[in-house]
Amino acid sequence: MDTTVIIGNGVAGTSAAAMLRRNGYEGAIKLIGDEVALPYQRPPLSKAWLIGSDRPKPTLLRPLSFYEDNRIDLMRARKVAKIDRNKRRIRFSDGKTTKFDSLILATGALPRRLDLQEADLKGIYYLRDLGDAAALRQALNNPSCHEVVIIGAGVIGLEVASAAVDRGKTVTVVEVAARAMARVASPVTANFVTQKLKNIGVQFLFNKKIDGLGAADHHVSSVNLGDGSQVKADLILAGIGVIPNTELAEAAGLDCDNGICVDQDMRTSDPKIFAIGDCARGTNTFASGKLRMETVHNATTQAQIAAAAICNKERPAPVMPRFWSDLKDIKVQTVGVATGYDRVRSDASQDPLSLEVHLKSGDRLVAAEIVNLPNRQSALVEEISLQVSPDTR
Ligand code: APR
Repeated sequence: MDTTVIIGNGVAGTSAAAMLRRNGYEGAIKLIGDEVALPYQRPPLSKAWLIGSDRPKPTLLRPLSFYEDNRIDLMRARKVAKIDRNKRRIRFSDGKTTKFDSLILATGALPRRLDLQEADLKGIYYLRDLGDAAALRQALNNPSCHEVVIIGAGVIGLEVASAAVDRGKTVTVVEVAARAMARVASPVTANFVTQKLKNIGVQFLFNKKIDGLGAADHHVSSVNLGDGSQVKADLILAGIGVIPNTELAEAAGLDCDNGICVDQDMRTSDPKIFAIGDCARGTNTFASGKLRMETVHNATTQAQIAAAAICNKERPAPVMPRFWSDLKDIKVQTVGVATGYDRVRSDASQDPLSLEVHLKSGDRLVAAEIVNLPNRQSALVEEISLQVSPDTR
């Protein structure tokens, strides 16, 4: 029987398994992940998971019965150590092997670690998986935790900052760049969000290089900045970006370049091996050049494309990239890819709080950003789609 093995059971891998069945795939599906938990959603880990008094439960991607009903062999707490392309099999860390006809790499990304001598001190947290979120939540619950320093004003940093303020902490965000959200949003949206977070008490330090960390009894006590100043810290959360998890792919000799290189069907340099989600880098109809996207929407979109290719079905029509972030009562959404724009038009309201930003290249709308205007999303998607040049549509 034909077998598809999927390495990684995050939203990309789990969606790929579901999409294979939806496309009528009759072979065996093995969905492998190194965590013990049933596949769960990551976005709540930096949002609802950190607020609230009840002990949170992971939000499952699918109930257990889904895997049974769809004959998906969910292999949890299993780590893949090697891909043997010649023999078309993978080897687990316990030495066992399993064969594949098609292989999907959905290995995700790993949080970038602080490159500081004191990075091993207690009190430093990262946030990617359930274990990270549980540890961070517990640390925030500690009554002696008052001063929280967030390193990095990106998606994770701002979401945790708003949750920590909500929990009565003194929160300072230290960012090396001149502004927040540089990877995901235009300066207009980033500044709007930054101002709102300042209003609820988050302090921002931009253009700040970190020289080192102060410690007391092996526990972090301060962040020492390049300008000689210090910020007191009972807890540090570092949200300084992610690194695509390409280890297995590279060891197997697949082409990698800031991600596993893929074609339009999500095929890697080996036609029987696909890569999807945060670990994959390829082209996108709505952007020029190659890119790697770190969104749930991208993961599910690419899962559909890979599943269609494995089932010899027509490639699904391109869908506009989308992203969202929840910061207390500020919901940020983006559509399209915000590159190559030279004109910005924005419309802000303070009461009720909202923002709509149009990013244009000449007269062409290439991307849009909205705050607290979820009903505008589909109209903006349509508007941008209509303006994509016919040769790339
Ligand atoms: N000191 C201060 N800031 C830094 C440093 C540093 N040494 N290194 C990087 N930064 C800043 C970057 O300038 C950027 O503003 O950290 C920020 C990282 O932001 P993102 O790229 O958005 O990464 P992060 O917030 O860690 O999110 C990682 O989690 O939820 C997902 O979609 C999200 O995939 C993304 C991932």
